[in-house]
Amino acid sequence: MLEELEQHYRQATAALAASEGREALAAWHRDTLGKKGSIYLLTRNLGALSAEERPAFGRRLNEIKAHLEADYDQRLAEAEAAALEAQMAAGALDVTLPGRRPAHGRLHITTRTLRDIYRIFGDMGFQVYRSPDVETDEMNFELLNFPPHHPAREMQDSFYTTTPGVILRTHTSAGQIRAMREYYPDPIRVVLPGMCYRNEQVTARSEMQFTQVELLAVGDDISFADLKGTLTDFARRLFGADRQTRFRASYFPFTEPSAEMDISCILCNGAGCSICKYTGWLEILGCGMVHPVVLRNGGYDPERYFGFAAGMGPERIAMLKYGIDDIRQFWANDLRFLEQF
Ligand code: DAH
Repeated sequence: MLEELEQHYRQATAALAASEGREALAAWHRDTLGKKGSIYLLTRNLGALSAEERPAFGRRLNEIKAHLEADYDQRLAEAEAAALEAQMAAGALDVTLPGRRPAHGRLHITTRTLRDIYRIFGDMGFQVYRSPDVETDEMNFELLNFPPHHPAREMQDSFYTTTPGVILRTHTSAGQIRAMREYYPDPIRVVLPGMCYRNEQVTARSEMQFTQVELLAVGDDISFADLKGTLTDFARRLFGADRQTRFRASYFPFTEPSAEMDISCILCNGAGCSICKYTGWLEILGCGMVHPVVLRNGGYDPERYFGFAAGMGPERIAMLKYGIDDIRQFWANDLRFLEQF
């Protein structure tokens, strides 16, 4: 009996060695160790054995089964590795080929310029204050001292909505009243950023939509000197420590007095070139002391409080800084342009 078992074992080992490939190995397993396999069937012989012979036979049978299973596992692993290698050699997958790099996104040049502006004013204690793009005519114009039919409204032709009295804001100044009403009676230092919309002819120098950043400071001891100091410091931090600034008298309904701030030309340093149209100066922003009517509309008593405000266009600032000659590039979504920044 034991001799017969050893013979089956030798045959099974030889058959395993002769089986090549995953399918042949699986067939060998079925025919040898499976429920109807040659080795499995030998368990039936146990019944025919005497009580003395049975333990030795059973032990040897189990040993053989364990050996065969282990050999089978090893052959199967080898066959699988060989199959994978053959598949790779056949060129289905060249694992040495470098992968495709995912395209890296980046921040839009306007966002980056906005963040530069926030950082500088943030250092001076100004917080970002958000206000809606869809505004009332009241916030955008009336409370900022533009009465209905005032000629100054013509500088900012608006987009109207189907709701009477509701427009797309033409400037971030609209948020001044909202900030004042929220902060009253505390002092205010805010930066109001966001998209503005004007019904204008689109040219290289003007778009129908653009961003603005508004600055507003309100307190009981704020003077024009604070305005000049804050804005000059800002210009130097953004455009370089040797920038000169100058303030020219101007007009805005919501500030009195009003001014425009120029910086010495960043290309020629004031000598005169085509960027500054041979004036030596570049206009950067509008500004002024908050008009008493506007302070009152925001809830602040103009006898006790003062404020200054300023408004600038980040796209225009980026155009000067990077020598961009067409504002339409900002929203044209041309990657060749956007990837340069
Ligand atoms: N809102 C003005 C505009 O869009 C810009 C401006 C000028 C804002 C003077 C101000 C300011 O706060 O003081 O043309």
